[in-house]
This record gives sequence, structure tokens and C-alpha cells, in this order.
Amino acid sequence: MKKTFKIILKILGVFIILLVLAGAIGWFYVKSNLFNFEEDYTQKLDFKELTVNDYTFLDRNGNGKLDIYEDDRKSINVRVEDVLSQMTIEEKIHLLKGSGVASAIGSVKPGEGIPGAAGTIVPTPRLGLPTVYLSDGPAGLRIEPTRKDDDKTYYCTAFPVGTLLASTWNVDLVKEVGNAMGDEAKKYGIDVILGPGMNIQRNPLCGRNFEYYSEDPYLSGFIGAAMVNGIESNGVGTSVKHFVANNQETKRKVNNAIVSERALREIYLKGFEIAVKKAQPWTIMSSYNKVNGTYTSESEKLLTDILRKDWKFKGMVMSDWFGGSNVQAMISAGNDLLEPGTNKQWKALIKAHKDGKLTDKDIDKSVRRILKLIFKSQKMKNYKFGNNPDLKSHANITRRAASEGMVLLKNKEKTLPLQSKLNVALLGVTSFDFIAGGTGSGDVNEAYTVSLEEGMKNAGYKINATAKNIFIKHKEAHSKEFIKPKGFNAMLTAYSPPQISYTNAELNKMASESQVAIITIGRNAGEGGDRKEKDDFKLTLTEQKMIKNTCTAFHKEGKPVIVVLNVGSVIETASWKSQPDAILLAWQEGQEGGNSVADILSGKVNPSGKLPMTFANNLNDYASNKNFPQDGKKTTLIDLILGTKEAPENDKIRNKDYTHYDEGIYVGYRQFDKDKLDVSYPFGYGLSYTQFKFSNLVTSQENDTIKVSLKVTNIGNYTGKEVVQVYASKGNSKIDRPIQELKSFVKTDNLKSGDAQDVVFKIPVYDLRYWNEETNAWTLEKGTYSIRVGSSSRDIRIKKEIEL
Ligand code: BGC
Repeated sequence: MKKTFKIILKILGVFIILLVLAGAIGWFYVKSNLFNFEEDYTQKLDFKELTVNDYTFLDRNGNGKLDIYEDDRKSINVRVEDVLSQMTIEEKIHLLKGSGVASAIGSVKPGEGIPGAAGTIVPTPRLGLPTVYLSDGPAGLRIEPTRKDDDKTYYCTAFPVGTLLASTWNVDLVKEVGNAMGDEAKKYGIDVILGPGMNIQRNPLCGRNFEYYSEDPYLSGFIGAAMVNGIESNGVGTSVKHFVANNQETKRKVNNAIVSERALREIYLKGFEIAVKKAQPWTIMSSYNKVNGTYTSESEKLLTDILRKDWKFKGMVMSDWFGGSNVQAMISAGNDLLEPGTNKQWKALIKAHKDGKLTDKDIDKSVRRILKLIFKSQKMKNYKFGNNPDLKSHANITRRAASEGMVLLKNKEKTLPLQSKLNVALLGVTSFDFIAGGTGSGDVNEAYTVSLEEGMKNAGYKINATAKNIFIKHKEAHSKEFIKPKGFNAMLTAYSPPQISYTNAELNKMASESQVAIITIGRNAGEGGDRKEKDDFKLTLTEQKMIKNTCTAFHKEGKPVIVVLNVGSVIETASWKSQPDAILLAWQEGQEGGNSVADILSGKVNPSGKLPMTFANNLNDYASNKNFPQDGKKTTLIDLILGTKEAPENDKIRNKDYTHYDEGIYVGYRQFDKDKLDVSYPFGYGLSYTQFKFSNLVTSQENDTIKVSLKVTNIGNYTGKEVVQVYASKGNSKIDRPIQELKSFVKTDNLKSGDAQDVVFKIPVYDLRYWNEETNAWTLEKGTYSIRVGSSSRDIRIKKEIEL
């Protein structure tokens, strides 16, 4: 017995030793290949200041002389050529890949680096070129809020998510938000923000829809350009992502999007094209997926022919994190920088150059683009960042932007705005725990999130105690599920505590004590997984019952019920929307969420948001749904670290390893209009507390521009803003084309009751072209076009024909 016990102990001991050894080797491998493999390339910062002929400069290479590249009176191009001529081939190749993920996971020495920054452009110490920091993301900066041995906090502002910003249809406001984001980046020492996300919302289930703007490329393009211009006005860069057709998260690293050339050009590339032409972003991020068999990061057609030759993009392209496969193919195609960079990539690049596969010319082309960015960066200008952004003023911008992007879906008999000082019964866990944004790299480490409860309290409403106590008890009973995931875990895990099941007695009590019920329905999704229909796109049974029973209890007392949707993408509304009196689509509103919602509910702000994506009656009504993953499977941590392996050809699974975009150009309202399908809420839809009249439509053609002007009058009783949407339609078309397509839009000023504003649009004639697959070129169909001006895609108020 004793002997057997001893043997078991020995085996166990050996097993433990092996395990520890395997762990140590694994850790060493990961550390030396992914974290710190840059020992010889530590940033040099101690430059001497020299003065030559009255000009003072930093002697970056320490040669005691003024080099052309050290002279900031010279143009960037001249400086870059000079430094390029001084670089060794090793230094050049070194610059083509980042320094690993050390800073992304906060693994930097105290006082060095920026913990939480997703990656870097590496320094070239011999020549005194600095490290440039890259950080997520589309809704604000994502850096670590606390640092080792440091009492200071580094919280960032959680701005509203991309979908909400697009719902404002207000390019000036989006630019202002971008400006605040860029300012925050600059103050925290970040040189490039990894955003905005500009993929098309092809299907409601895409887990990252919240980061993206719209189902429509024009709305997406104009909003994206405004964001880029806003951020970059601070002298920090953007990385417009994910280029292109990255419309699902499932198997995103290997998925092959099979898309027609026409759909690519008219839908998936168009928004990027607009952003490039209107804003010339510093960088573009290639996506993980393949398009028609080639990784986008290895596609010369996408990165060189279309992006650079056709659109005249002047900036740099970086890969998505660990994206792409063949490093030589990536550089040759025009993907200049490999992020976040691994030791393996570095070695592969050196070998490819030695073997003659990677030419000096290709290396110089990419290095030149990277150097241009370095020279534009604040780091090269020696800007001393103080880690002191004005978070308070950014919170004000967030609050304002969020309320402007909320969409009032229903308002029966003027339920809203609410009278002041009412007793409000808040239902649903999310009312007490608002979701500021989605998960993954699009998340932000903000200092606080204002809940609906706090927002309503701040606006002078009384919070019904019964409703509140039910929530407290529920939270106590499920305390573990209410712990928010933190750090790396939060990247992959959506916080979604269980919903409350109210008894009829509880609802009746609340109905007798309070004057109105507000139910919040929350959804949280993000990077690494798509959503699914059951219990996500559709309401859960508990939520359905909550809405139904609350309506019964409150309506019995003649009291209204309002539903607030704190969601990042479309959810099903058709089956239950008749029950409540008002529905406010609040999206994920950023850190001031509760205040922004209260501003709308109280009437302090008149809603003026409009839908950037169609809310269909059923998930299956979206043509893309036949070709979209449905199981909602999430990426695992292992997948994230080791990457997804491409399956052998015969084992490839439809909608996972490859996805057919069979719907072609018929995405969103283009499809619903063509199929004459009823929808729950159409693209461009959104109510106001006031009404607007459109009149005096005049159209004319001046050279290559169509000029459209009209008068918008506020004919209701509230001050408010209207979104004027201009669609173009080609009747009797000889080709298969959408019934109508958005070509321009504007948000009016805040018009007082009775006030009017003249609005003018200039639409380039070339925007009416379609992609001709026979000639492989943009083509203008001659004939009569209808210019349709509306308040939504299905509420066209006036139209006029023009001859082209
Ligand atoms: C995401 C990018 C992000 C990058 C860096 C990737 O997983 O797809 O959007 O910018 O990580 O965090």
C-alpha cells in the first residue's frame, strides 16, 4: 500500500515538474517572440541641443552637425529622403514591424512606454528616431487606467459608439467628437488612434457593428471623414479600419469574403473611398479576412491599385493585429507595417530580403511611408505630453453627442417629453447599470458611466423605491454575475448580468406608486464573436414578459411605459413595439449615457437622431442572413493568442471559413426597397418632438455638379433639428440598380418653432455612376434621374427630375 502510494507520489511529482517546465518554456517562447524581442532597439531620448547659424535643433544622431532630417524647417519629404539614405538595411527592415504586444498588455517598465497602447512603430536609436504609439479605438482611447507604482489615473473618455455617432447625421458634431478624442490621444502621448471603424453593417448579428457606422457607404464615408478630420486636426493620426469586407467576427482571421466586384466598389469600398478623398487619413488598417481568395493585407489590387493609384491615398497601411500570413507578400502588396510585430516576422522579413524575394525597392517604398508618419508625429516634434486631458469638457461633448444620436422610434400621443419631477419606476437591470460601449478593442477604460437612474435623478425625477429595491435584492442574489470582467478578460467577455423577473404584484405596486415606467433593454457584444438570434437579436422570454406585464399593470392605471434600448446594433422590435407608449433607441451612449437619455426624456434635448441601419421585421428578412454565421460562437483566448489556422480545403465550412455575399449590392434599404418588404423602422427614420416641412425644392446642374436646394421649416411647437436626406433614383434603368440611394444629407441648425432654413447640397455627377462589371469601370447611365428629398428612406417628401 505504502509502495503504491510512493509510486503515485513520484508520478505526480514528475508530472508537476514537467508541467512547470512546459509552462516556463511556453512563457519564455511567448515573451521572446511576442513581448520583448527588441533589446538592441531601445529608444534614445537624451539628445543634445545644438545651434548652428542661429538655428537650434536636436542632434538626433549625435554627430555634432545639422543633418537635413534634423532640420524641421525642411519639408517632411526632404527630411525623409535624407534619413532613408542614412539607414542600414537592417534598420529599414526593423521598421517594417512593431515591437510586439508588451505595451498592449501593460508589460512595460515603470515610467517607460504607455501601458495599454496596442502597439508601436519602433524607434531607430542610432538616428534618434522615436517610438510612435498606436492605441485603440473608435469610441475613445483604450489605455490602462492605472500604472504600477503610480498614484495618478489615466482614465479616458468613453465617447458614444460609432453607430450612435452615425445616427446624429451631423458631420460637424462628429468632427467635434473626433477633435476631443484626438486631443485626449495627444495629451496621453498617443500618436495614432486605431479607428474609426468603417466596415459596412451588412447583417445585424456582426459582433462589432457598434464600432461601425452604417449599412450605407455614403453615410459611413461622410461620418468617417468627419471623424478623421476631427482627430487629425490635433496632429495625431488615425487608422481607418478594417479595409475591407470584414463584416463578420466568426473566423475573422481566415474568412474568405466572396464578393462581386460591383458590390465591393459600390458598397464595401465606397465609404473608405470617401474618407480617403475627403480626409486623407494618416493610415489605413488592412483587415484580417480574405477577399475573393487573397488576404486583404496581401492584395496588391486593394492596397496599391485601388487605394493608392485610383484614390490617391498618400499614407501608410498597417496590418490588423497579427493579420496576414506571408510577410513578403504583405510588404510587396503595399501593407507597409506589420502590427503588433513578432520576432518570427522580423526573421522572416530578413530571410525574404536575403533570398531576394523582398526587394530593396519594396522595402524603401514602405519605409518611406512609415518615416513620413514618424516625422508628422508629435514624438518627432518633441511634444511633451502632460497626461492631463480635460476630461470634464470631453464629458460634456459626449453627453451632447450622445443625445443627438438617439433615435426616437415611437411616441404615442406625445408620451414624451415627460413632465418634470415625476416618480419614475425603472425596470430591467440595465436601467441601473448602463452599457457605455461594446467589448474588445472598441472598449474604453472610462472613470465612470452614468446610469439611467443617476441621469433621471440629476434631471430632478424621483426614483421609485420599490423598483430600486427589487434591483438591489436581485443584484445581491446574483452577486457573482454582477462582477464586471476586468483587464484582458473584459476584451472577450461581454458583461451581461441576469435579468429581473418581476411578479405581477410587484408591477402593480410600482404602477400605483409611480407615474411612469421606464424599461431598459441592454445588449453587449464585441470583438471576437458574432451575435445570435435567440435571446440576443430577439428579446428573451423574461424581457418579453417584463414589457408585456409592465404595460398591463401601468396601462390599467392610465400610466405610460417607455422602453429604452441600450444596444449596439439592431434588435427585433416588430413583435412587441405596439405595447409600450414610447421607444427610445439610445444605443451605447458612452460614459454620460444616463444624463444623455434623461436630456431626451425630459425634453431638454429634442431627439434628432435617425437610423443608420434598417430595423427589419425579422432577421431572415436581411438577404445577407442566409450567408451569415448563426451560432454566435465566441473566439477563445487560445485562438486570440495562437491565431486561427486555415482549415484544409475540403473541411472548409460555409459562412465560417468562407462567406458568399450573394446579395451583392442589395444591402440594407437597397434590398428592402427592391424586395418591397415592410420593415419595423426604415433606414433614415427617427421622430422628433416637433415637425418639419420641406418646400421650394430647386435642382440644377452646374458643370459636373448637381445643385439641390430647399427650405426646411419647423412647423411644430418645439425647437429642434431635422436631418434632410437626399436620395437619387434612376427610373427606367437599363441595368439592375437600387430603387434609390443616399447621396447627400445635412443636419439643420436647431430651428425654433416657425423658423426656416435654406439648405443646399452639391452632388458630384460622378456619384451617380454604377460599377460596370463588363467594362470594369464606373459608368454614368444617361437619362432622367429623380432627386428625392426625405425625412427617411421611406418618407420622401419632395422630388424633382433632372436630365443627365
Ligand atoms: C482589432 C483591431 C484593433 C487591434 C489592436 C485587433 O484585434 O481587430 O480593430 O485595432 O486589435 O487592438
